[in-house]
Amino acid sequence: MYRALMLYFSRALWAKRIITGFELARRVTQRFIPGETEEDLIKAIRKLNSVQITTTVDILGESIINKDEAIQTVDAYLRLIKRISSEQFPVWISVKLSALGLDISPQLCYNYMRRILQSAREHGIQVTIDMEDHTYTQRIIDLFLAMRAEGFENVRIVIQSYLYRSYADIVMLTEGSAGIRLCKGAYKEPASIAYPKKHDVNATFVRLLKILLDAAKDGRGYPGIATHDDKIIQIAKTYATQTHISPDRFEFQMLYGIRTALQAQLVAEGYRVRAYVPFGTQWFSYFMRRMAERPANLWFFVSNFVKR
Ligand code: FDA
Repeated sequence: MYRALMLYFSRALWAKRIITGFELARRVTQRFIPGETEEDLIKAIRKLNSVQITTTVDILGESIINKDEAIQTVDAYLRLIKRISSEQFPVWISVKLSALGLDISPQLCYNYMRRILQSAREHGIQVTIDMEDHTYTQRIIDLFLAMRAEGFENVRIVIQSYLYRSYADIVMLTEGSAGIRLCKGAYKEPASIAYPKKHDVNATFVRLLKILLDAAKDGRGYPGIATHDDKIIQIAKTYATQTHISPDRFEFQMLYGIRTALQAQLVAEGYRVRAYVPFGTQWFSYFMRRMAERPANLWFFVSNFVKR
């Protein structure tokens, strides 16, 4: 109920107008988003790199239906690629196709994505296409496969364990040696599409992560295990050890500002850790999804409001 309500707010324009209107709200979001500017981002990347955590960077924004906004997003990514390359950070980038005009025209989005991938490839940067709600899943997979068919080796994709279809998708994608980030899934989905019970989402995550690790062992893909879930992380570590999969064949991925002690602990144990670092002014939907994941976050938000 709580999750459904927060996810409803994440898409409600009226809620966005109210919450983003408060300067204080913007400051409270800094727990999950380092800031709105490129300088804020660079500072965050430096700090994470200094403790051996690599990053994947996302320019916040999604569900764009205006071509000018899509062009602005592409330009922002191209500038960002130049900037992070000039700093010589070991950075990847993450992109939402709905921010590149997928809702306007698949062909337009394809052309924009190609420009980003070309520039990223020139600078040795991997680009992960984030997965959005189920109305996008097939279109995102299709575009990903088209980019791979065009020869882009630097494009990666995300699979969500809450979708019934994900087992078949992961089998198909690992056969093609795709680079995959596995996560649970952050959107509100109907029971006809996604497991409604957390237990099933977790069990599927474990099943899929074993497929990914087996494929990685055979040199087919380099998976990102994207979760903050202690139990699943422990299962991944144990499985990798028992099946002799070296820790440099995969990485753990976590969101900026979440379970930072766990991130540090994994690094200390010799695992690779990458933080997903979002930045920019369009933080509302991302922030509300983080609220939805954990009721305690709402308390954190409200108590900061009251305190200040
Ligand atoms: P779960 O929600 O069970 O949480 C396990 C524990 O982690 C909690 O008990 C808590 O301690 C901590 N935790 C989790 N979320 C928290 C939060 N918001 N605040 C504080 N603590 C929290 N989704 C998607 O649909 N498409 C995508 O492309 C991506 N991309 C992505 C990249 C990366 C690097 C990560 C880590 C996650 C995503 N996600 C995503 C989000 C993902 O689907 C999922 O919603 C969140 O990771 C939360 O699920 P957990 O696996 O952490 O488990």
